[in-house]
Amino acid sequence: MTYAALTGWGMYVPERVLSNADLERIVDTSDEWIVQRTGIRERRIAGPGETSATMGVRAARQALDRAGVDPRDIDILVVATSTPDQLMPSAACVVQTELGAVRAGPMDVNAACSGFAYGLAVGTQFVRSGTSKTVLVIGTDTLSRFLNYQDRGTCILFGDGAGAVVLQATDEPTGVLSIDLGAIPNTGEMLEIPGGGSAHPASPETLDQKLHYMTMQGREVFKHAVRAMGESTLKVIADAGLTPDQVSLLIPHQANIRIIDAMAKRLELPMHQVFVNIDRYGNTSAASIPIAMCEAQEAGLLKRGDHLAITAFGGGLTWGSALIRWSV
Ligand SMILES: CC(C)(COP(=O)(O)OP(=O)(O)OC[C@H]1O[C@@H](n2cnc3c(N)ncnc32)[C@H](O)[C@@H]1OP(=O)(O)O)[C@@H](O)C(=O)NCCC(=O)NCCS
Repeated sequence: MTYAALTGWGMYVPERVLSNADLERIVDTSDEWIVQRTGIRERRIAGPGETSATMGVRAARQALDRAGVDPRDIDILVVATSTPDQLMPSAACVVQTELGAVRAGPMDVNAACSGFAYGLAVGTQFVRSGTSKTVLVIGTDTLSRFLNYQDRGTCILFGDGAGAVVLQATDEPTGVLSIDLGAIPNTGEMLEIPGGGSAHPASPETLDQKLHYMTMQGREVFKHAVRAMGESTLKVIADAGLTPDQVSLLIPHQANIRIIDAMAKRLELPMHQVFVNIDRYGNTSAASIPIAMCEAQEAGLLKRGDHLAITAFGGGLTWGSALIRWSV
């Protein structure tokens, strides 16, 4: 059997901090409301010239360095993003050029905030099937460029960033042990960026109607997120032949502290076994889990052999979870 060891990890967040106090000056909101209802205190915003691809490259370089992998040895390069630099070419093609990953097959995967779980699933399959030896998976999003800073229901939630992991073939039973992916039919309109695609190509009308901005039915998304992430996490734990008490760390997508608290209760995990950094970055979409993985490793919360559960939920409405045995 071939497994996909997770041998490198890296992250990048832009320098510019947008605090709740800053947002108080832009929309009708308050630090108190944002902290109580979401757990977010500040988020990072991409600077001029920064894009999903440029941030992804920064995270990828760190991950490749850690793994000791030369970009020329990457076979497959997966970029999970719903905010590519442009519709064509893919963000992965831009990253490939910047990194010098000349042999890599580049592809984007779009599952919105669940994207990293999907990218990890795709990358793992390439390695486990014997097709590829080395895969780079990046989760990166620049949602600040698609937010309406007059809509307090969305603009307070999201930040920009990128995270990356390197997967390498091994005989040792490690890396992703189980995966669960899915989506709830007929919920696309609950969280969407309607304009700019083939349904509503960019035009003066789509601009007037603000179709290039994200819209969300927050309360509905919240309810679906709690249920889907809870069920999906329990499924990947069981599919890996484990029980929740054998999971040493849960990394949930960082969308709302109240969703994270509900997850912890559902799995009966004490909060010190649930990773939280939403206070500093907000919801970074496809980047949230790989960024959290890096910070959890840095904080000494992930040791070789530990069982880590990741779970995410986002536009679609999609969900994606995985049970991972930490490889290094
Ligand atoms: C968006 C979210 C934080 C809103 O919190 P909520 O508790 O559901 O709040 P509601 O939308 O019910 O709004 C409650 C009140 O707060 C108000 N409100 C909304 N945003 C506000 C803000 N930024 N500041 C102050 N008040 C705000 C609403 O207008 C509403 O006022 P009303 O009662 O007078 O009508 C929450 O629904 C959420 O996190 N949803 C999931 C989002 C998510 O995970 N999305 C991405 C998935 S990856």
